[in-house]
Amino acid sequence: MVRHTEWDDELSKDTKQRRNNRKHRKVSADQAHLDNESSEFIKSLNSSKGSEWMSEKKYKRMFTEIEEGLSGVLGDGPFEWVDRRVFDAVFDRLTLMSLYKLMKSGAIDTLDFPIARGKEAHVFHGTGEFGPVAVKIFHTSNAVFKNLIQYIEGDPRFGGLKRRHRDLVDIWVRKEFRNLSRLAKWGLSVPKPIGVHKNVLVMEYLGTAEAPSPRLRDVKVLNPEVVYDDLVEFLAVTWQKAKMVHGDFSPYNIMWHDDKPIVIDVGQSVVQSHPKSQEFLVRDATRLVEWANKNGLDVTLAETMYDILEMDLSHISIAEEE
Ligand SMILES: Nc1ncnc2c1ncn2[C@@H]1O[C@H](COP(=O)(O)OP(=O)(O)OP(=O)(O)O)[C@@H](O)[C@H]1O
Ligand SMILES: [Mg+2]
Repeated sequence: MVRHTEWDDELSKDTKQRRNNRKHRKVSADQAHLDNESSEFIKSLNSSKGSEWMSEKKYKRMFTEIEEGLSGVLGDGPFEWVDRRVFDAVFDRLTLMSLYKLMKSGAIDTLDFPIARGKEAHVFHGTGEFGPVAVKIFHTSNAVFKNLIQYIEGDPRFGGLKRRHRDLVDIWVRKEFRNLSRLAKWGLSVPKPIGVHKNVLVMEYLGTAEAPSPRLRDVKVLNPEVVYDDLVEFLAVTWQKAKMVHGDFSPYNIMWHDDKPIVIDVGQSVVQSHPKSQEFLVRDATRLVEWANKNGLDVTLAETMYDILEMDLSHISIAEEE
């Protein structure tokens, strides 16, 4: 159940405010620009705007709630939010808001400890209504982008780019969520998607209370034939039934959980109508053949491709309508 909160109102007020600010900025843009480019830039770096909002009264209750949920990650006791000044506090604010939303909806109760840091995201162990969850929090900016954005955002002629970058990240995360849902509906072995809000994705957790399950690349399996067959079928059902292709299929993106392979990281997966879907399929199959050969199996790309495309899957039906 999603509870409507004051925070929703705060958000929409906020958006309006930002729009007004932007309008206002446009009028005086050229003037301000001519006035002093560098002083604007330095001011923006020094400005306390990044963390000031955290001490505002209206957010206090929200923080208390988030604090309770995040105490595992942050250590024991109340957390001094105001001391936690980060360069891109603006992004953090929206991430916290997303976590708050997901806590309200029941998808997340607590965020406990970090599991992994990838190129695009941090993954945390958490708990939700029905047990442990994995929470993938996507970076809303990368080092390169951060480096560039400081020269762009401070220039009044090019405001608003931060938002647009965030929008792209949000779309990417929703795409990963939808891809997981579609694959899960065909009964494929992926973590069950649980919730999504902006740059935060919540899914079924694969692992024990102490640590996540290893990746396929980190284990030596006893029965590579069975695993290979499983994975060929995964690719076949994904292609023939779900009409999709993973796109980054590799032992790095397959977890070894309860003695079975479970495929993760489906943000880049595309539907068959994508112009590069066939190219991606061949690449995915190639990775699988490489893994199989390394594990002593004598299979070729041609055979594997044939199986993926021609395997009889008439017994497989959708688990649930999309
Ligand atoms: N559902 C899950 N349960 C447990 N651990 C997970 C889960 N999903 C991801 N992880 C862990 O987080 C790591 C990164 O996840 P994922 O590959 O989805 O993110 P990524 O940002 O694309 O990472 P990379 O850039 O390394 O590919 C995984 O290798 C795995 O260790
Ligand atoms: Mg990955």
